[in-house]
Amino acid sequence: MKVLLIGATGNLGIRLVAALLTHGHSVVAFVRSSKKLESLLPASVFHQIAVVQGDATDAVLIKRAILDAGCDAVVNAAGLAAMAPWGKSELPAIFHAVVNAVREAGMERKKPLRAWFLAGLGVLYYPGSESMLSDYIPIYLEHRQNLYLLRSLPPDALDWSVLCPSTMTPESSDISVPTENSCGQLIANATTPPLWQDSWMKHIPLIGKTLLCAMNAGRYETTLEQNADFVASDLESYESRWSGTTVGVIDGSK
Ligand SMILES: NC(=O)c1ccc[n+]([C@@H]2O[C@H](COP(=O)([O-])OP(=O)(O)OC[C@H]3O[C@@H](n4cnc5c(N)ncnc54)[C@H](OP(=O)(O)O)[C@@H]3O)[C@@H](O)[C@H]2O)c1
Repeated sequence: MKVLLIGATGNLGIRLVAALLTHGHSVVAFVRSSKKLESLLPASVFHQIAVVQGDATDAVLIKRAILDAGCDAVVNAAGLAAMAPWGKSELPAIFHAVVNAVREAGMERKKPLRAWFLAGLGVLYYPGSESMLSDYIPIYLEHRQNLYLLRSLPPDALDWSVLCPSTMTPESSDISVPTENSCGQLIANATTPPLWQDSWMKHIPLIGKTLLCAMNAGRYETTLEQNADFVASDLESYESRWSGTTVGVIDGSK
């Protein structure tokens, strides 16, 4: 597919460039600074991609970039959610602009685009309930409003998925194509975290489920490379089992 990658200079973004190329996609990187992207990538990788400069809060520019390059899919890795419940970041404005741009581009080309967005573990449901994990540990709450925006769209507006990792760490600082990841593939699950470890402790009044969320959280650490590979691999097909859903991931090899 031809993929518009927004936020290609980020920790995940640069690894997405490599993973997308490795999986045979064409990459159009949408970044604030082409020079910065060039400094982060080996020349051999940088020369394989097209670059559009702009701000990710500019929906008109993003839509133009999609239509001018003839992109079939968009991955948004731009913006970083504020951790504290009272914190504010640019992520909701970026998310809003990207959703509008992708939606309008889909209408103009008369075919909805495929799009991957990023959120965090907190927007997944506590297994067996309709409460989000962030109801128990209220951090990175901006992801919730982003998800509500996607869920409020008409079903055929865009073909979205939301990857919901916990902390992602770098496996390596080397960016190469094809990628050489030593970690295994992720195990994924729609709407709830995969392989959740349950305990009688959840029945402790008031704090039981919060304790379980805290106990489980560390198990969901994955690498940036694993997540980049997961998205790039899913985009190999127009049909995705993750359409219209949040996706939790865990490193099954741990
Ligand atoms: N890292 C984690 O452990 C983790 C875990 C769960 C979820 N997530 C989510 O995953 C996403 C990516 O994380 P990350 O660690 O890769 O973040 P990051 O390294 O901070 O990268 C953020 C990217 O967003 C770009 N950006 C910010 N504002 C922009 C704007 N107005 N216009 C265009 N680009 C803009 C930055 O570009 P510049 O280079 O120009 O600043 C950078 O490329 C975030 O949404 C984050 O909340 C991250």
